[in-house]
Amino acid sequence: MNNTSKKILVTGGIGQIGTELALALRKKYGADNVFITDIRDEAPAIITDGGSYDKLNVMNYSDVEEFVKKRGINEIYHLAAILSGKGEENPFLCWDININGSMNIFKIAIENKVQKVFVPSSMAAWGLGIQKEDVPQESILRPTSMYGVTKVAGERLSEYLFLKYGLDTRGIRYPGIISCETLPGGGTTDYAVEIFYEAIQKKQYTSFLKEGTKLPMMYMPDCIKATLDLMDADVDRLKFHGDYNVAAFSFAPEELADEIKKIIPEFTIDYKPDFRQAIADSWPASIDDTPARNDWDWKPEYNLSTMVKDMIEKLSVKLK
Ligand code: SER
Repeated sequence: MNNTSKKILVTGGIGQIGTELALALRKKYGADNVFITDIRDEAPAIITDGGSYDKLNVMNYSDVEEFVKKRGINEIYHLAAILSGKGEENPFLCWDININGSMNIFKIAIENKVQKVFVPSSMAAWGLGIQKEDVPQESILRPTSMYGVTKVAGERLSEYLFLKYGLDTRGIRYPGIISCETLPGGGTTDYAVEIFYEAIQKKQYTSFLKEGTKLPMMYMPDCIKATLDLMDADVDRLKFHGDYNVAAFSFAPEELADEIKKIIPEFTIDYKPDFRQAIADSWPASIDDTPARNDWDWKPEYNLSTMVKDMIEKLSVKLK
């Protein structure tokens, strides 16, 4: 398929990752070939200014199927989901949206000859009994959050549907993603984004994760690069289908704060852990991403200090 014959559907297209992924897809394949959707009535100007936006609920099978047929969709990035924190507030809704929503997308994809489907997984797939440092690609998956349970099920479904129907499913276990375009909503790693807003505006931040909570993280440009590179990879090289480990860097809240202080010296942090601490404690501190590096040449560009510098530069302009 050449680039202009691609017709791409993005669900969850105005979420934290969805927004920037959708914009990158427009740039790569042309705005006319990328259909950005989400459940809200209105999208922000950054989305509506450069192309189409449609309200579409992944729970509504017939609406999604009609959308796919009408636009001749042949590739789907399915990002609509409930994250870990929100998922613990309503675990049954989290299962419903993350699993039944994905099943709708998968079934529609198979029945309408969609060629590739990207469904993200997460480090939340891990939980009890893991190796905390450098957790390997093939490791035990015993998540303790409903979000994590849905991510493991999503990974298994992706592989199952590839094996049974030849549906070209692909997915990444994202670490916490840091970005300045759209705020994340309801995740455990959200603190690592909020901290920048508060550091610039109030010079103070109260973290809902305690000192020493080291988690794997990644800057948005690398998240987008990983996603696009995996989708471009030759399918014959892929040994995994819904669950590639990717890593960039890891830090605990105080290490991020120290890095911010190098640029905003008056910044202070204190800690008031909430229910998300238990979720974070069940996740790994660092990830081994050797198969992604070998199978599709994955390599991140940003480290902790280059990410912090870029975030503060960009966000300072945005918050002026
Ligand atoms: N960032 C996500 C969350 O915190 C993890 O995938 O829920």
